[in-house]
Amino acid sequence: MVAQLLGLGDVETPPRVAELAGADTVTPVWRNEVGGLTFQLGEGPTRRFAKWAPHGRGLNLVAEEARLRWAVDYVTVPRVLASGRDDDAGWLVTQGLAGTSAVVPRWQSDPATAVTACGRALRAFHDALPVDDCPFDWSVSARLAASDKARAQEPTLPPVPPIDRLVVCHGDPCVPNTLLADDGTWSGHVDLDALGVADRWADVAVATMSLEWNYGPGWDGAFLDAYGIAPDVERTDFYRALWNGT
Ligand SMILES: Nc1ncnc2c1ncn2[C@@H]1O[C@H](COP(=O)(O)OP(=O)(O)OP(=O)(O)O)[C@@H](O)[C@H]1O
Ligand SMILES: [Mg+2]
Repeated sequence: MVAQLLGLGDVETPPRVAELAGADTVTPVWRNEVGGLTFQLGEGPTRRFAKWAPHGRGLNLVAEEARLRWAVDYVTVPRVLASGRDDDAGWLVTQGLAGTSAVVPRWQSDPATAVTACGRALRAFHDALPVDDCPFDWSVSARLAASDKARAQEPTLPPVPPIDRLVVCHGDPCVPNTLLADDGTWSGHVDLDALGVADRWADVAVATMSLEWNYGPGWDGAFLDAYGIAPDVERTDFYRALWNGT
């Protein structure tokens, strides 16, 4: 199953999501690689979003809620409105942010604007969040400790590069997780279940990897320019290998 934008009729609405919507419309928005679903509830500036995650698929909405509640004081991320779990699934309802994902058709047809906005968005995220106050760790050792798969692949990883700059990383900086306003500037960040302190290249290397999947080849330079960093082959290779192994 690949992650994808959803249209009306692509999925059935789980009864729990229908209940959370109340009188609001329910619009499917996104299906992730392991079958987690996101729905928009209602329309316009007061719309909400419900993430629905079936148990047993490795989705962690509890971790995401904790990180959103911490980060919302510093950056534009969704405000948590409700959360819960039943025998089938967990859910997280957030207030809608302005803008749409950087991979909706409009931005796929204008990659130059979207890539620049995503590079600036990631830099602003890294500049805004306070490392010293962050209770979450996304270091190489923490990631290896948390993943049996990664530990099994550890012997094949390149050597761990020295830290370039310690920041609070997004943790899933793939471009669908940046929101863009109508004018092509960035408007927010979503999908923060892995947020934590790490070298900024842990994010940058994965963000650039996601450009080719979403916009085709050749956009790394524009992203790095917008972020404001020179290419670093060693750190890029290391953090992509770690990402693919976790
Ligand atoms: N509060 C919000 N405001 C605006 N849009 C939102 C909000 N929450 C989610 N979205 C939209 O829903 C999409 C899916 O949300 P999110 O990325 O959190 O789900 P996910 O299943 O964890 O994604 P992934 O496939 O990257 O793991 C986002 O790309 C964004 O377009
Ligand atoms: Mg996402």
